[in-house]
Amino acid sequence: MKVGVPKETYPGETRVALVPDVVKTLSTKGVSCLVQQGAGLAAGYPDLEYSAAGATLVPSRQAVLSEADLFVTLRAPMSEDLPLLREGQAIIGTLWPLQEANQPLLKQLAERKVTVLSMDLVPRISRAQSMDVLSSQSNIAGYKAVVLAAADLPKLFPLLMTAAGTIQPAKVFVLGAGVAGLQAIATAKRLGAIVYGYDVRPVVKEQVESLGATFVEIAIEAKDAQDSGGYAKAVSEETQRRQAELLSKTIAESDVVITTALVPGKKAPVLVPAEAVARMRPGSVVVDLAAESGGNCPLTEAGKTVIKHGVTIHGHTNLPATVAFHASQMYARNIAALLQLLLKEGAWALDTSDEIVRDTLATHQGEFVSPRVRQALGLPELKMPEPPKKAEGTTAPKDATAPTQGKGKKQR
Ligand code: NAI
Repeated sequence: MKVGVPKETYPGETRVALVPDVVKTLSTKGVSCLVQQGAGLAAGYPDLEYSAAGATLVPSRQAVLSEADLFVTLRAPMSEDLPLLREGQAIIGTLWPLQEANQPLLKQLAERKVTVLSMDLVPRISRAQSMDVLSSQSNIAGYKAVVLAAADLPKLFPLLMTAAGTIQPAKVFVLGAGVAGLQAIATAKRLGAIVYGYDVRPVVKEQVESLGATFVEIAIEAKDAQDSGGYAKAVSEETQRRQAELLSKTIAESDVVITTALVPGKKAPVLVPAEAVARMRPGSVVVDLAAESGGNCPLTEAGKTVIKHGVTIHGHTNLPATVAFHASQMYARNIAALLQLLLKEGAWALDTSDEIVRDTLATHQGEFVSPRVRQALGLPELKMPEPPKKAEGTTAPKDATAPTQGKGKKQR
């Protein structure tokens, strides 16, 4: 199995999908790596480290795509790549196939019978935690959001008792306590701020408090705020308006507001309306990690930093790329963990009776496999092979890759 690592081409993308350490680990499992020259440079991984780890360096993207059996990326392939791809070749990347805008490309890849495993489709279950790029990259975004805010704020974060008097600690309010929000809370605490946290899912109160922050409780109906997968459900516009109103006092009293509230597949909820920003002290900072999904603050401009009512508002859309060394390391480890499940002795062993494989496999042999992708494309369910029984004397089928059409398990 030859795994190719092309240099990322998306504007501002500095990460690389595999790092030298992971190349080395893969080589012990019968996988050889082809790396485009300079692929890791922007993330702090020079070519020499890749070759020392056993990779073969190739001069162009074209060489990677034409020689690799599988190539790994951060983002979707470019349309210029398509003519280079061949039947049976595979891609592992983050292609967001559930988003309508990305579906034409997925269909083209399916037509060419290219196999696509999309990292954003990895199910959020305990067994898949080591493969979860949404978590690894959100963790980094949560950390960097606080660092950005601390750098911009004209105040210190910690309490300081000095000969020039006592400096009061900064107040940081984190809205949305998923992976990014919890890391933001932990980082702001480490820097010495007084931290408040809020989430529509009441179950996270304990997690917020365990990090030393105060959970802001507001009087809204939130008992149905969470779906069976642990994600927040979209709340009505009226509830959002009420949330924003009840949160505005804490927002106005905060020096830094970090917003991370997202609902999968929906526009981000507005939690920090323009009036709340206007009530903040000039010099305060808002970091809106939901910028790409419409923003938790209507004044946010995706991809830009703006100053409104004297408040700096960051609308970064790719904070992990600003911490590219570790973001790449974590992403590469997530990929390696998935490959561990997909390969046996350096060859494909795709078992679609495994929930992780089935959910992550966007397309294979020209068929759309992932139930969520099929649902997004308006296709009927596929009947999947049953997981192998663990009775004595029986072994798992060697190739359980070909799903058959029919009525299968209920989709998530
Ligand atoms: P996310 O990025 O989708 O959303 C961030 C946060 O925004 C969530 O905590 C959500 O409750 C909150 N939110 C949404 N609407 C809101 C509103 N109107 N007001 C306030 N807050 C709002 O979430 P993320 O970080 O991807 O994690 C979501 C959940 O996924 C976790 O809590 C956990 O249950 C699950 N998870 C499971 C993993 C695993 O087992 N492999 C790994 C990571 C997460």
